[in-house]
Parts: sequence; structure tokens; C-alpha cells
Amino acid sequence: MKLSLAFASLLAVPAMVAAKTYFKETFDDKSWESRWVQSTHKEDYGKFKVSPGKFYADKKGSRGLQTSEDAKFYALTAPFDEVLDNSDKPLVVQFTVKFEQNIDCGGGYVKLLPPGTDPKTVHGETPYNIMFGPDICGSSKKTHVILNHDGKNHDNTEQFLPLSDQLTHLHRLTLNPDGTYEILNDEEKHNGTIFNHWNILPPKKIKDPKASKPEDWVDKEFIADPEDTKPSDWDDAPEYIADPDAKKPEDWDDDMDGEWEVPKIKNPDYKGEWKAKQIKNPNYKGPWVHPEIDNPEYKEDASIGKYKSAYIAFDLWQVKSGTIFDDIIVTDSVEEAEAFAKETFLKKQPKEKAEKDKLDEEERKKMEAEAAKAAKEAEEKEKEEKAKEKEEEKEEVEAQEAEEAKEEEEGHDEL
Ligand SMILES: *[C@@H]1O[C@H](CO)[C@@H](O)[C@H](O)[C@H]1NC(C)=O
Repeated sequence: MKLSLAFASLLAVPAMVAAKTYFKETFDDKSWESRWVQSTHKEDYGKFKVSPGKFYADKKGSRGLQTSEDAKFYALTAPFDEVLDNSDKPLVVQFTVKFEQNIDCGGGYVKLLPPGTDPKTVHGETPYNIMFGPDICGSSKKTHVILNHDGKNHDNTEQFLPLSDQLTHLHRLTLNPDGTYEILNDEEKHNGTIFNHWNILPPKKIKDPKASKPEDWVDKEFIADPEDTKPSDWDDAPEYIADPDAKKPEDWDDDMDGEWEVPKIKNPDYKGEWKAKQIKNPNYKGPWVHPEIDNPEYKEDASIGKYKSAYIAFDLWQVKSGTIFDDIIVTDSVEEAEAFAKETFLKKQPKEKAEKDKLDEEERKKMEAEAAKAAKEAEEKEKEEKAKEKEEEKEEVEAQEAEEAKEEEEGHDEL
């Protein structure tokens, strides 16, 4: 394969840069075993096996790398054909994930590791360049794109939901040298720039620490109209008045009860507190905006998102195993990745979906048959119980009759 690539680049028009593929894996024959290296960092890593799963398009072509043990860490790494330096070309990583087990909690992502990594020692804390792919735990679902910069991992701030059903889905990340990126999830695209969707650098602008709101800043938008005056009769009606309907009770005794006072009620004519009408403040300056200055901490850094990558790794934790990874490609060309998807994932997708539907239908029929059988058994059991009850009733009646007959006989005897 390396030979034919070299040959193709010889034939290519000199002005055109030939697309290069740095890694490709379909797990369709045994050769994957010589490429992938199991980490020995822990003693009890989960085992990967190669399987097309329970439903698939093509027994051979659908074979992929499957996690096979529950509640385990996994760590498996393979080297690229050569180091990919994406400082002046795109980096494209594409693979498929099938959460066949109905994922409850577990990772479905890959990591790209720098040259010099020892695959045998790979584990959760091993430095990586990029971590990309779905990560699901209960209701928390995310497509991670974690970028390392200066030794720190930065997660994407934009949320991009992965598909988490049981079918195979395609995941592709493209990082371009101009800082734009694209994520593809089957047909769904999501894009932006590293500068907008990651907080790798401190903000470009900050609020000027020297500036503060001037004391005489007028931010009151409305004021009382100075022209408006209180009508002279405004306060004529008091708030409370003597209840005109109240009468001194007939049995009221001034000597005993004190002087009778008419109870007060709220005056329906009372106008309340007078307020001048509001007008727009002629001195209003609008809300004060804190002026911004260039952040002295900010430094342009063209190296963000640019890496030398030499390995791809599955470094995962899975509660319920069964995830299948397949059709991996790492290249510098989106077209190359698209062509590979056409040969692999897109070719298999419709058949796999049909097979899944068939399996679901069989499952449904099986469940229906089981339910029918259970219902019939329950019915028969009920019948049997009823018959038994009847029998017992009959026996009871007979026994009672016999008893009565006996008593009667004994009564006769006594006589
Ligand atoms: C995102 O994709 C749209 C549509 O293809 C394109 O117009 C836009 O320029 C892209 N944005 C970035 C930041 O690449």
C-alpha cells in the first residue's frame, strides 16, 4: 500500500499536492493484530475482540474492534505510517462507532498521540494531542474534541450531541491550518473556529481596569415632569372616613362601654399619593459601557491546533461493553476521507439498518409469542384453579351433608 501511494505521488501533477493517508484500518483481516499494541500499564485492561456484532451488513467487511468485557478500562494503540504534521495542511480523522450494547456509560472516542509515545505504557494520563469522538454517561452525551495546548487539555465549549442508538455512525474531525474546524456526525455538520469554540487563549480584550463609571453619569432614563403640578383638590378627600352606614348599637352603654366611636372605612374618593407624570430624561446618557483594552496576557499563538501526531489510541472506560469501532482513516484530505467512507461505511449503512430492523421485528415477534404463551398459560392455570375450587367446594358440601346425616342418625339413636 505504501508503494502504490509513492507511485501515485510520482504521477501527480507537480503543482498539486497529493493527498496522503497516514493511517487506515478496517479490521477485515488478521493483520490488525500486528499493528495494535496492548498497553500493559494496568494488569486488568478489558479485551478487545474483532466482530461484526449481532447485526451487520457484511460478515467480513463489518468486522470491527469490539470491547468485550464490562466495567473495564481499555488501552490499545497503533502507529501511523509516518508522522502527521498538520501545521500547514488539514488533519482529518474519521472512524465509525457502533454502540450495539445500548450504551449506558462509556467512551467512544479516539486519541491522537505525539511521536515518542510508548504504546505499551498508554493510559488515561498519557499526553495526547487530540481526543475526538462520542462520550456517553447516562443523560450526559457529548462529542468531545479536546485539544492539547502547552500541556493542558481544552474541551470544546460548543455542545455537539452524538447519536447514541445501536447503529453504526460515522465521526469525522477536520482541523484546518487557518484555525477552522468541522465535525461530521453521519450527515450532520458542525463547524467554527478554534478561537471561538475553545477557551485555549485568554480573552483578546478585557475591561479597562483604570476606567470606572463617572460620578455624574446620568443613567436614569425617565424623570418626574417638573412642569406637572399637583391639582389643588387632590388631598381634599381623606384616606379614611366614618362609615355612614354604621349605627350605635342599641344596647351600647356609654358608662359601661365608653363613648361609642363610628368605625372608619376606606374613602372611595381617596386619590392616593400624587405622583408627577414621567418624562424622558433630557440628560440621559444610556447605560455606561465599561471600555475594553487589549489584554496584555493575550498573545497570538499560531501553534494552536497544530500538532505532530504519530499514533491513534483507544483509551476508554466502558461500563457495559460491546461498542464496535471500525473503518478508521487519518489523512490530510477531506476528499480522501469521503472516498473511504463511500467504500466502507456508506456502502454498509443501508444494509445494516435493514438487518437491525429485521432483528427488531424478530425480537418483537418473539416477545409477542412469549407474551401470548404466558397469557395462555395463565388462562389455563386459572381454569385449573377454578375447577379445583369447584371440586373442593363439592367435597365440602358432601362432607357437610355426610356430617349432618350422621348427626341426625346419632340423634335418632339417642332418642
Ligand atoms: C461553516 O460552514 C458554512 C457552510 O458551509 C460556511 O459558510 C462557513 O464559512 C463555515 N464557517 C467556518 C468558520 O468555517
